[in-house]
Amino acid sequence: MSKRGEIFETEHEGEEQENLENFSLADFFSMGWDTFQAKTSLFSPYFRMMLKDGFILREAAGAAAHRMPIKDPATGEAREVLMFGSNNYLGLANEPYVVEKTIEAIRKFGIGCGGPPLLNGTTSLHRTLEERLAEFKHCEAALIFSSGYAANVGWTTGLLSPKDILIYDAQSHASLSDGIKMGRFESAHFAHNDLNHLRRRLMQARWKHAYTNVIVCVEGVYSMDGDVAPLPEIRRLCSKYDALLCIDDAHGTGVLGAKGSGTAEHFQMEGQVDIVMGTFSKIFAVTGGFIAGSRELVDYLRFFSRSYMFSASLPPPVVASVLAGLEFLQAHPERVKQLHENVAYLVAGLRSIGYEINCETAIIPVFVPPSINIRRVVSRLHEEGVFVNGVEYPAVPKARQRLRLSVMATFTRKDLDFALDKLERVGREFGMLPARQ
Ligand SMILES: Cc1ncc(COP(=O)(O)O)c(C=O)c1O
Repeated sequence: MSKRGEIFETEHEGEEQENLENFSLADFFSMGWDTFQAKTSLFSPYFRMMLKDGFILREAAGAAAHRMPIKDPATGEAREVLMFGSNNYLGLANEPYVVEKTIEAIRKFGIGCGGPPLLNGTTSLHRTLEERLAEFKHCEAALIFSSGYAANVGWTTGLLSPKDILIYDAQSHASLSDGIKMGRFESAHFAHNDLNHLRRRLMQARWKHAYTNVIVCVEGVYSMDGDVAPLPEIRRLCSKYDALLCIDDAHGTGVLGAKGSGTAEHFQMEGQVDIVMGTFSKIFAVTGGFIAGSRELVDYLRFFSRSYMFSASLPPPVVASVLAGLEFLQAHPERVKQLHENVAYLVAGLRSIGYEINCETAIIPVFVPPSINIRRVVSRLHEEGVFVNGVEYPAVPKARQRLRLSVMATFTRKDLDFALDKLERVGREFGMLPARQ
């Protein structure tokens, strides 16, 4: 019998279901296929199972917020859940000030520019946002991309040439990996947050090419574990080995620092990062990304980042919503404080229930032992009214599959207590926590 047959073609419906439940993407990759038809049909049952379980593509039936209606994967009925799966950390997606400013921008600028930034796609809103972002990140200038993904692919492929070297953390986001795959330059990774390994990589780079350009790229807050890069030590190493420092602060912006300006503020290192990358898809809850740095770097990237030059500009309403979000953040630092307090409360609560939590930011991983079907855990929590994302192998190592809880500033204590109660109940049910004596 073919491998496909073994996995999907059981005579009994229940058996097929059970086989699929234990089927992972890694199994799919290991199967091999000859034709597109074989490839897509092998993948299809796995995809349908994920859909049915509500592990992916759960449908929202209203505005993104800490409490929001989501269609129940089993019944299709919309039901309110607590949203622990969104990067909308500050709750700006539906903040009245931001919504009003966005509507105003539609009335004035229409829905889009119909072109790329260098031609007809730059409005006064785009220019103002670039200036504000540069100030916010303590840089001379900034340029806006149509996504954070495009920003990472754009700056790497646009800036680095064949003799240049990019040294990056092993847990960097896929957008950086894709920039590395597309680019024509040398690269080397170092073990996650491992300063000794980074030092060795820098020494190797300098032995090989004493005068070449070297850039070290790290994330401020890592998107899977929610841990923070040791930025002061990394800065010192970069200075010692004459390397530029780039930080992808997708998950640090709006989250770290009392003003929410990000990881550099958290370490009191404003103005000490050479290239700052950020996205509008997290706290600003829309789409888009940016690079901030020296004026000359930004001018250069406008011509040599292909994902900037050859892609249409962000629509003015999106730009207006980021501008309004930034204004709101600067006028309401208490929203950032609320986020910090909610993170502290949830982490303390999870620890008191018995979960091992090692976290400093708005991303809290709750590890699920590999023997437990994480898709079932996610589905049970949804039934109980708590939306969380599950991350499984091969996105993370098998032993490190996890529920990825994202905290929002707008949760009340009552919301957090409700979620803690459900996480305890479901955790005991699945054996993630010891049964109650
Ligand atoms: C660390 C990091 N960098 C870059 C990106 C890409 O950003 P965007 O969603 O704006 O394309 C993400 C998004 O998940 C991210 O987590």
